[in-house]
Amino acid sequence: MPPKPPSSLKQAWRDRLTALKDLPQFWRLLRDAAPTTVRATISLRMLGGLAPLGMLYAAKQIIDLISTKGSQPDLPSLWFWIGVEFALAAISQLIGRVVDFCDAFIADRFSHSLGLKIMRHAATLDLSSFEDSAFHDRLERARAQSTDRIGMLTSSGWLLQRLVMLISLAAGIIFYSPWLFAVLIISVVPTFLVESHFAFLGYTQATAQTTLRRTLDYYLTLGTSREAAKEVKVFALAPHLETKYSKLAGTLMLENRRLAARRLRWGGAFTVLATAGYYGSYVYLARDVALNHMSLGTFTFVAGTLAGANGHLQTIFSLFSDIADQALFLRDLALFFEDTPTIRASTASLLPPRPIRSGIIFENVSFHYPGQEKLVLNQLNLHFSQGERVAIVGKNGEGKTTIVKLIARLYDPIAGRILLDGKDLRDFHVDELRSEIGIIFQDFIRYDLSVRENIAVGSIGRLRDDEALWEATRKSNAQELIEKFPQQLDQMLGGRFEGGSDLSGGEWQRLALARAYLRDAQILILDEPTAALDPLAEAEVFQKFAELTHEKLAIFISHRFSTVRMADRIVLLAQGQIAEDGTHDQLIQAGGPYSCLFEVQAASYR
Ligand SMILES: Nc1ncnc2c1ncn2[C@@H]1O[C@H](COP(=O)(O)OP(=O)(O)O)[C@@H](O)[C@H]1O
Ligand SMILES: [Mg+2]
Repeated sequence: MPPKPPSSLKQAWRDRLTALKDLPQFWRLLRDAAPTTVRATISLRMLGGLAPLGMLYAAKQIIDLISTKGSQPDLPSLWFWIGVEFALAAISQLIGRVVDFCDAFIADRFSHSLGLKIMRHAATLDLSSFEDSAFHDRLERARAQSTDRIGMLTSSGWLLQRLVMLISLAAGIIFYSPWLFAVLIISVVPTFLVESHFAFLGYTQATAQTTLRRTLDYYLTLGTSREAAKEVKVFALAPHLETKYSKLAGTLMLENRRLAARRLRWGGAFTVLATAGYYGSYVYLARDVALNHMSLGTFTFVAGTLAGANGHLQTIFSLFSDIADQALFLRDLALFFEDTPTIRASTASLLPPRPIRSGIIFENVSFHYPGQEKLVLNQLNLHFSQGERVAIVGKNGEGKTTIVKLIARLYDPIAGRILLDGKDLRDFHVDELRSEIGIIFQDFIRYDLSVRENIAVGSIGRLRDDEALWEATRKSNAQELIEKFPQQLDQMLGGRFEGGSDLSGGEWQRLALARAYLRDAQILILDEPTAALDPLAEAEVFQKFAELTHEKLAIFISHRFSTVRMADRIVLLAQGQIAEDGTHDQLIQAGGPYSCLFEVQAASYR
């Protein structure tokens, strides 16, 4: 669930304060990313924080020395204090540079280590999480954390440094006049409250806009991506996309501008109040000097500390409020990490049998997708015997792919059981189970990587095993294609990176098939990955697939009956159940729905 906009302002403030709870965790992440550097910047910032007080004190000495009336100024002391002020100025400049250097380094380390953590966690989550749009919003916000929260690193550092500055300057002011300090606090606090209130509204608004932004991003991607370019051109979609984009962008901009304008009005008014507080104190001090109650040096010192403290106090408040707002985003990160998988987390540890003896049985299996009501599978009973070649046919949306997903435990049935050699799939160690299954999905991924990697994703441990890779390409009829590339297995594919060659749909499919052959799995499943091949090529691929999967369980899904008839058994799926089951000849003879469908397709070839 995306974070809800708070119901009331009181609630909003409570949310902010609770969000601060996540801060220590963030700081720990920072520290773990670069421990030594973090310690170094902290020490440097504390040192740098003391410099302003020292410089003001040196300035006071200098002014008092040169404004002594009548007598000769004490030159050696004068040079000494000028030297002190110069040294402090130079040191604090240098510290500033070193701190910037450290921050940049920490930021890099932080975003890399957080990126890795996010990837690692995402890898453990269920497929259903990724197919859920609320999860998507959260994942996107969490992903943005690895770069967006870098601002918080600098803010935290500055907060520390400003605090040291403020405390040291406050000590200076209190030494001369405690109540001046009180005036200062009173004039600055309202500004803080106003600022943080608006910063908070900003967060609430940004949260509410997540979906809009995602939509905006989608239009931009559609309008600029390589995948969509073909259709965008031939259908002349660009103006339509542009209109949608600018309409949405306009809404977002208007919302943001409204809030910014309100912030400007209120913030402006309260800034004037703070300035008035400062000048009130200034008048009081100037009067003291005029009445000879205070030396010119002391006046400069107190006025300087006051101005400094005023500035630092305001900055501290806004830094703090900035950090508190950012902390609200940390919740997204924390929530993302709290998202737990159900499938992978199971402690089942049974190893899949090798060899598999009887095969897979669906026993009264019912299934619907999370958040949907329509049953895709309704008390399905189905068996796949080991060593058999089974074709699943059925109209689009009848649940063919869903069966495959259930076998791979990308989802679990909501009722009934799936058995492998008589044992519930849920009792097996999920990674071990998946290692026995090779699936090429109809929407397999075309990686913008080398040919080698594109095949080796089937069994990534064999990335450097050229012999096995070539063997797999021979089986999938991709060998000739790869031999034509100047760099052979190391040819880059896809258009994302320089030097990548693109392939036709059918060529990609041959590569994808090689993945299945590379994988040493006992169950092989092809889910319409050959749709882009012409019927003859597809028949050839399946002929080979049937021969090469001897003794394995081979399941294939296809729309082409010329291919399907090669199977040992054909299962026709309709309305979540099995409508027909048998060999091609049996089904034709039975004269049921399969034979009708076959006739229709055969007629179109005559
Ligand atoms: N991730 C999903 N979330 C919700 N519904 C889904 C999802 N995937 C598929 N469906 C729905 O489940 C039904 C079966 O889909 P699928 O198994 O892909 O069919 P087939 O492979 O036979 O074409 C369809 O109605 C489809 O809309
Ligand atoms: Mg499908």
